[in-house]
Amino acid sequence: MSGPINVAVVGVGRMGSIHALHVRELAQETGRCVLAAVVDGNIERARQCAARMGCDVPVLASVGELIDAGLCNATVIVTPTESHREHAAQLITAGHRVLVEKPLTGTVESDREFAAELDRNNPHALMLAFQRRFDLPLQYAKSLMDSGVIGRVFKIYSSLEDSNPAPNGYKSGGILPDMSIHNVDEILWLTGRMPRAALVVGSNIYTHRLTTCQEDFDDALLCLWFDNEMAAQVQVSRNHVCGYRVETLIFGEEGQIHVGRFEQKPFDVIVEAYGRRGRDEPLARRTFRMRQYTHVLPEFVDRFGPAYKAELAAFVECCGAEAPFPITHNDGLRAQKVISAGMRAVVTEEQAAVV
Ligand SMILES: NC(=O)c1ccc[n+]([C@@H]2O[C@H](COP(=O)([O-])OP(=O)(O)OC[C@H]3O[C@@H](n4cnc5c(N)ncnc54)[C@H](O)[C@@H]3O)[C@@H](O)[C@H]2O)c1
Repeated sequence: MSGPINVAVVGVGRMGSIHALHVRELAQETGRCVLAAVVDGNIERARQCAARMGCDVPVLASVGELIDAGLCNATVIVTPTESHREHAAQLITAGHRVLVEKPLTGTVESDREFAAELDRNNPHALMLAFQRRFDLPLQYAKSLMDSGVIGRVFKIYSSLEDSNPAPNGYKSGGILPDMSIHNVDEILWLTGRMPRAALVVGSNIYTHRLTTCQEDFDDALLCLWFDNEMAAQVQVSRNHVCGYRVETLIFGEEGQIHVGRFEQKPFDVIVEAYGRRGRDEPLARRTFRMRQYTHVLPEFVDRFGPAYKAELAAFVECCGAEAPFPITHNDGLRAQKVISAGMRAVVTEEQAAVV
């Protein structure tokens, strides 16, 4: 790798301010990168972000200003989902490589168009931020599964449940395209397979009443069927009032792997593998300690802080080595294709059979 990579962060709200902090920390810890600019349409927010980190970084108000300033060729895009495509296209045209927060564009139609454009003109310009692939507990679970310790896997259950509704004013394209994209990519990554069929069961049961955000459901289940006798279930909700619930259960013919039991201990993530009935001891058990930042942050940072940082480090390494990214626009597209298939077969209470 040559010199350090200059990296800007565009959009420093809830998630972007964490990416900016991690760029700054990686710069200090590894010397592999430099925080080149903090950009936000709300310039005061960008100033506050820079001030919180105590660094004298250029603060800019738009992607156009960033391009004109010529400060860097690598940028993390953390603006609202509906701007991802526009901002990524602008920056890539100007010669940047970009790390784009999930989801790619927010809809399968737009994902398809954008992915085709990128494949044609810039196949290696975009890394998609699926931080679960950098999460040590999930990586450990995958290594247990791949080692065959629980035999042939026939079912995966993956949940992601917020403790609060989406904020007032939040623009959601639906709870599944917005949230379950993480779980769906996780399942495709764990199994290396695409499902054959999908359906969704959706309900509004509680927190939709507490927000002005218009979202289709506050609780939904996506069911997936794969070839060769395998199924998966993704549970997403905004109703888990006691805290962020992120759990994965992998069921095999010889046992089960469990990642992240909810125990109101947000910084301890337990991975356990159990054998068949009758065994006294687990096949494996490890606790992964997450990072406690110096101030209170959104609940997803409690659970995935180190994974976000590892994801950023991978982005920086690939930029330095001019190497392809490990996760691209096509990973975003394939997860959204699965969700979109499920959304074509939604069952609501009105559509269910009367009891
Ligand atoms: N990977 C994860 O776990 C995770 C978690 C949260 C959010 N996200 C994703 O991150 C993205 C941002 O979400 P958030 O919750 O941080 O939103 P947010 O509203 O808190 O932050 C977005 C920021 O972008 C700024 N912005 C808006 N338009 C802009 C423009 N044209 N130019 C420059 N800045 C602009 C806003 O002022 C705001 O500061 C979304 O796509 C979301 O899906 C991912």
